[in-house]
Amino acid sequence: MKKKVVSLILAATMIATMVTGCGGGSDEPAATDGAATTDEAGTADEATPATETGAADAADAAADAAGGDYADKVVGVCIYQFSDNFMTLFRTELENYLIAQGFSKDNIKIVDGANDQATQTGQIDNFIAEGVDVLIINPVNSSSAETITDKVVAAEIPLVYINREPDASEEQRWADNNWNVTYVGCDAKQSGTMQGELIADLGLETVDKNGDGKIQYIMVEGDPENIDAQYRTEYSVKALEDAGFEVECLTDQVGNWQQDQAQQIVANALGQYGDDIEVVFCNNDAMALGALQAIQSAGRTVNEDIYLVGVDALSEALEDVIAGTMTGTVFNDHFSQSHSAADAAIRFVNGETNEYYIGCDYVKVTTENAQEVLDMVK
Ligand code: BGC
Repeated sequence: MKKKVVSLILAATMIATMVTGCGGGSDEPAATDGAATTDEAGTADEATPATETGAADAADAAADAAGGDYADKVVGVCIYQFSDNFMTLFRTELENYLIAQGFSKDNIKIVDGANDQATQTGQIDNFIAEGVDVLIINPVNSSSAETITDKVVAAEIPLVYINREPDASEEQRWADNNWNVTYVGCDAKQSGTMQGELIADLGLETVDKNGDGKIQYIMVEGDPENIDAQYRTEYSVKALEDAGFEVECLTDQVGNWQQDQAQQIVANALGQYGDDIEVVFCNNDAMALGALQAIQSAGRTVNEDIYLVGVDALSEALEDVIAGTMTGTVFNDHFSQSHSAADAAIRFVNGETNEYYIGCDYVKVTTENAQEVLDMVK
């Protein structure tokens, strides 16, 4: 299976948008780094994908699977919202990988929380009533994790959280109580740092189009409750500052991970600030694709008079990086994350334990390696 190999080698303006204010929009998020495999603030080299931990984990899981029979085991999977591009890649790979490990497709029950915590909580209650063997949950609101954990633990069902990290005190509770609960995800600080480095690596002379010695940028944020959005916002700018750049935030708004909302935000910002905007930071690629539409409609040219970065490495964004219509992106390794989540679930099903935090690495993507990443993700 080609995809399995990957982790081995590698607003309606007024209503839908929200101005968070420049300055990062961030209270310091409360999540922990736990036992993440990434460095603090993630200064990983620009790289060809090399998530070797994924390789080891996949091999272990395959070995376990060879000895285990999971055909009658039932996995409940709660996704915060099916229409999210990135989570669609994630859940598709998760299902395929579980099947490859010996689970029956009929017993992998994946449900859409429709971005509504009450809906998702009802789905969790149903899975508990059904007596599933393990739950994999991408919470709508990570702040609901405590309530979710309590009911799942009371039902003696092991639990793997994915993508939206609960806060540090919640993770600490799992450890303190020796509960069969874990979180699988990448360190969002690293992705933000890489976004900033993608711009810093171009050099001040290239990026500073108006020659005032500063980088004027706009920030388009994902869901502000999500730690990925908080850290990407903060660390992208921090990386520029750490590289010695003076920065000026023109506007910082919430696009909720959505392409259409980002398009509107960036169109408005371009109308208001025009040529002053030198860099557009988007917390994910879906929003970067929306930003690109707005940039092109405004007659601006990426990599000539404006720079644009996202996160995820969606195929379309990679094609833009190759074509030079997006400056760069950061590969959010859904192969490694989905495989690690499945491997953790399998260990729980086998009666084994997991670390309370299972991390993975992001990969910086430029024109140099975009084709290689595209070949992997396609
Ligand atoms: C991804 C976003 C996605 C979000 C969902 C992030 O890690 O980068 O594209 O919308 O997760 O929670």
